[in-house]
Amino acid sequence: MSPYAHITGWGMSVPEKILTNEELAKIIDTDDAWIVDRTGIRQRRIASPQDTSASLATEAALEALKVANITPNDIDLIIVATSSPEHIFPATACLVQDRIGANKAGAFDLSAACSGFIYALNIATSAIQSQSCKNALVIGTETLSRLVNWKDRGTCILFGDGAGAFVLQAAEEPGGVLSAVMRSDGSGGDALSLPAGGSRLPTSLATVAEGQHYIHMNGREVYRFATKVMSQATLEAVEKANLKMEDINLIIPHQANQRIIEAAARNLNFPMERVVVNVDRYGNTSTASIPIATVEAINEGRLHPGDRVVFVGFGAGLTWGAAVTLWSGPFAGKRKVRPVSYRIWARIRSFLRRLVRHIEGLIWGRYT
Ligand code: ACO
Repeated sequence: MSPYAHITGWGMSVPEKILTNEELAKIIDTDDAWIVDRTGIRQRRIASPQDTSASLATEAALEALKVANITPNDIDLIIVATSSPEHIFPATACLVQDRIGANKAGAFDLSAACSGFIYALNIATSAIQSQSCKNALVIGTETLSRLVNWKDRGTCILFGDGAGAFVLQAAEEPGGVLSAVMRSDGSGGDALSLPAGGSRLPTSLATVAEGQHYIHMNGREVYRFATKVMSQATLEAVEKANLKMEDINLIIPHQANQRIIEAAARNLNFPMERVVVNVDRYGNTSTASIPIATVEAINEGRLHPGDRVVFVGFGAGLTWGAAVTLWSGPFAGKRKVRPVSYRIWARIRSFLRRLVRHIEGLIWGRYT
């Protein structure tokens, strides 16, 4: 029988710097009332020069490992969903693997914009169910503040930085991720894109001069699409899990816009009291928004073992998806691990590996 993929650990990390709507109104032509009315956002976190997508992901991952009470060496798969990877390659997942010292893990990035965390959750679940791995780290991480045009009031008000992570573990007893749906419609790709910096439009003086290296968005089109697919995906995932909406305790949606979330709840006839919303404090953190909202829901006592929870999101691509989970919590275990202490060993190991590679290079260099 295939094992189930239980969510046994969770963590989040956000930059310290808060940027309020009032502060934004000092740099662009906007105001707090407009932003709150159209989006529900009041403030967002902004990465400091030291924060990167990998550094935020590393902190969230170590916290998730601590909750799950397992070490980085126990992890055999790391998926980082991100719309703001540190580079096109190497994958941000590999940077995280090195920093936490997950010696036995495969690592890759997943690009599905704001739906990325749900896609990654589904892929990690499939990997566990097919028994190709036992313990997986699924991370959503963003430093979108580096990709928005701070002169474009239609986009820069929306996004924020942060990271969230789940640990998924195999177990025979039923529970964990019960179902998931992943959908896409590439015909809507131009509604939300970052045109330059890839192989189609490599970065050049011209692409920079034209601002093609920033996020471009047709807000109204994305809004219309989002309000349609959020409820559709939820219903599909719930049906796939052989459940009904009455069985669902909590919905944790992608935090893009309060109005989009409310429209989805209305379409589903689902009470807003059982929908987690924190877009007011973090803005849209893309792939990180669902795990960050989950961590906050747990800390606020809104999510308990035995609850059935729906994660649902949408994003550029266009992509959308949903997953239904029977919430488990950490597995019982006697040993007490401190994953943070592994960070020091990871640094030493990483340094030694670079040194060995350097020495090998010198030796090989002599023979060529
Ligand atoms: N402050 C003040 N006025 C503004 C601002 C602003 N920040 N931004 C736009 N306006 C003005 C516009 O110029 C326009 O003025 P005009 O009527 O004189 O031309 C007016 O407000 C209305 O503009 P719209 O763009 O039509 O405003 P709308 O009500 O659609 O709200 C918004 C814009 C908030 C962006 C909304 O369309 C939205 O939330 N869309 C979804 C976006 C989204 O969720 N994106 C993330 C997807 S996930 C991912 O993959 C990253």
